[in-house]
Formats: sequence, C-alpha cells, structure tokens
Amino acid sequence: MTAGTPALELRAVTKTFGHVTALDQVDLEAHAGEILAVVGDNGAGKSSLIRAISGVYRPDSGSIKVDGAEMHFQMPTDARTAGIATVFQDLALVEVLDVATNMFLGQIPRRGPFADRKRMERESRAFLDELKVTVSSVRSEVGMLSGGQRQMIAIARALRTGGRIVLLDEPTAALGVRETAQAAEMIAGVKERGNAVIIVSHDMGLVFELADRIQVMRLGRVAGVRATAETSRDEIIGLITGSIVE
Ligand SMILES: Nc1ncnc2c1ncn2[C@@H]1O[C@H](COP(=O)(O)OP(=O)(O)O)[C@@H](O)[C@H]1O
Ligand SMILES: [Mg+2]
Repeated sequence: MTAGTPALELRAVTKTFGHVTALDQVDLEAHAGEILAVVGDNGAGKSSLIRAISGVYRPDSGSIKVDGAEMHFQMPTDARTAGIATVFQDLALVEVLDVATNMFLGQIPRRGPFADRKRMERESRAFLDELKVTVSSVRSEVGMLSGGQRQMIAIARALRTGGRIVLLDEPTAALGVRETAQAAEMIAGVKERGNAVIIVSHDMGLVFELADRIQVMRLGRVAGVRATAETSRDEIIGLITGSIVE
C-alpha cells in the first residue's frame, strides 16, 4: 500500500513562530488510495502541519513534494493548483447560498452574462450522488442543512475543484454519532476513488476505523508512525502523551 512515489512527501519541515517551534523536522508521507490520520495533543502541531501543506504557512526549512516534484507554495492557491484540497474546520461554506452555488464557489459557470444555474445544479447533483451524499435538493440553502451534510458538501467541493490530496481538519468534531458514521463512509469513499486523504482527528474510534496509518505528533515533532493494523489504542495514546518514546 505504501509502495511507490508518495502523492505527498514532507522532509524535515520546520516552522517557528518567535520562540515557539510549531513544527520541528517533520517528515510525512501520504499515498494515493490511503488514509493517513494525524493525531496528537493540543499544541502538538497538527494544524500547523495542515497549514504548511496547504500553503497557509511557509516552512522555514525542509521540503514538500507532490508526486515526487518539489513544491514551494507561496499561498493557498499554489497548493490547490498542485491538487491539494483542504477542508478546514470552519468549512468556508456560504450559509445563505444554496448547495449548487457553494459547490461551484469561485468558479461559477456562465452562460452569456448569467450564471449557468442548470449546469451547476445538474453537475452538483450528479457529483453528490456519486459520492453518496444525501441532500434532498441542491437548491437548499447550506444554512438549513445539518452539520454532517455541510461537512460532506465541503469535502465534495474540495474534490470537485480537483483535489487529489485531501486534508481534513477534525471533520467530525461537531457531529453526532449518526452523522459521524455517514461522514466516515464518505471519507472511505474518497480514499476508494484513489485520493490520498490526511485526516486530523481526536476521535480514536474514527481513526482506528478509517486510517491505514497513524502519525502521532508531539511538541511539534513526529512521535511515531504506525500501520493501524499493527498498533493499539494504548500504544497510540502512549505516543501522544509521551509515556512511549521511540
Ligand atoms: N500563527 C501562530 N503564531 C504563533 N504561534 C503559533 C501559530 N500557529 C501555531 N502556533 C503554535 O505552534 C504550536 C503548535 O500549534 P498547532 O499547530 O495549532 O497545534 P495543534 O493543532 O496540534 O493543537 C503551539 O504552541 C501554537 O501555540
Ligand atoms: Mg489544531
């Protein structure tokens, strides 16, 4: 599963803020058709890692490669162009707009001077069906939908805009049990489509259900990387807390 050139590869990525070292010589590999979970305590560097990969933070040193080619992201659009789609916790959906418009935000197709509504609705519906996202109408305002539906629409939009490497920051933090299960099923489907998925989560149940590998961050460093099938919750928690040191 982890053979071949990684879809995404970080080597010795370091990012400091004044005296704080948010990322300290961090390595990471993510492969197409794989889910990598990133876990760690508060302040471990998970969000900084996601921000470095998505072009929000520029690393002080180290390298980021996509499909083996070195990248130097100056801004988030550079990462998106390289196929990296990030769904941050705030989702960045516009609540007063409908599902179809949100799916095409920033890339609204035109027909003459007007937005091509029919096309947006048709393509949104087809794509959401393909991803098995249940929304009764793509004309529904996003603000009227459940947290789970919003999360899934944000992921669908990330894929629609060409994301092959999908970063999810705490995708189920605000969801109930049933919605978490639906989102988990969708995320598994995103992997099956051949994308590389990186998921930051505190939910150990979800991590062990979904992830192929688990990378533990602690105090800005990589505390360990494990194949999910070859580790246990106790070991992962030990790496998170520092009671297990490699
Ligand atoms: N923009 C920033 N300015 C200053 N310090 C930051 C910034 N972003 C992150 N940090 C610091 O970097 C460390 C790692 O934070 P973060 O990546 O948010 O961890 P996590 O997401 O695992 O909780 C923390 O000590 C945090 O305070
Ligand atoms: Mg965080």
